[in-house]
Amino acid sequence: MSIPATLLELAPRVKSVCVMTGAGVSAESGVPTFRGTDGLWKKFKPEELASVEAFLRNPEIVWEWYSYRRKLMENVRPNSAHLAMAELETLVPDFLLVTQNVDGLHREAGSADPVELHGNIRRNHCQSCGEDPGSEFKLEDGHVPKCPSCGGLLRPSVVWFGELLPMDEFGRAERAAKRCELFVLAGTSGVVWPAASLPFTAKTGGAYILEINPEETELSRYADGIIRSRATEGVPSLLSAFKQLR
Ligand code: OAD
Repeated sequence: MSIPATLLELAPRVKSVCVMTGAGVSAESGVPTFRGTDGLWKKFKPEELASVEAFLRNPEIVWEWYSYRRKLMENVRPNSAHLAMAELETLVPDFLLVTQNVDGLHREAGSADPVELHGNIRRNHCQSCGEDPGSEFKLEDGHVPKCPSCGGLLRPSVVWFGELLPMDEFGRAERAAKRCELFVLAGTSGVVWPAASLPFTAKTGGAYILEINPEETELSRYADGIIRSRATEGVPSLLSAFKQLR
């Protein structure tokens, strides 16, 4: 694995960086990805588990699925890719970490104020009034928790298929993509929109697009440089290059 020469030329003077991550970055922490041979969407149907319609039809099943995923994520810890991204943030004057992951691992690794485009699986909100009553509410004896304010159904605070992204958070991500000089795509298949629009926004603004992924993706052909490796190799190498060259 090597750092593209064009990126090495850019690294000493880059002042603005935006990094967008996906499930591949948490894979080595033990969080399953969605696509690929062992991906969650190979075993489960998103239309039955990750949409408002599915939730209103059968909230218990949807809660069971999220309880299962919360359990999977209970003991996971940030890996060297999350940590390297948090350190990279301290080296660049203007830096934004944008993630599609709902596991909260970037925050835990020390990223200051990451954009969580698809929400956070540890939080809840009310499907009716939108209130966030806290993370302690869970499925108890098969009963879906109710909102203490309005009695509506509580749900995990993740973005489901067919739902809009949180507009203020997406706005932060879009502005960062527009103004950055380097846009890094790490561990994402790049097939879910509107998240996948961000590298195009960055490219239109003149940014260098770097992909870090062991496999080719839908977005590879638009990348200016590629590190074909796992995130725990590629991101620490990128960090080392920045540390040496700045
Ligand atoms: P995917 O599961 O679609 O893609 C995971 C990507 O990670 C693939 O491109 C893999 O090649 C790559 N990968 C696997 N192991 C890796 C490693 N160790 N290091 C680096 N890369 C690795 O996950 P996302 O792109 O995050 O949405 O999926 C996007 C969205 O689709 C998710 O946020 C979720 C899902 O439906 C919602 O829940 C709304």
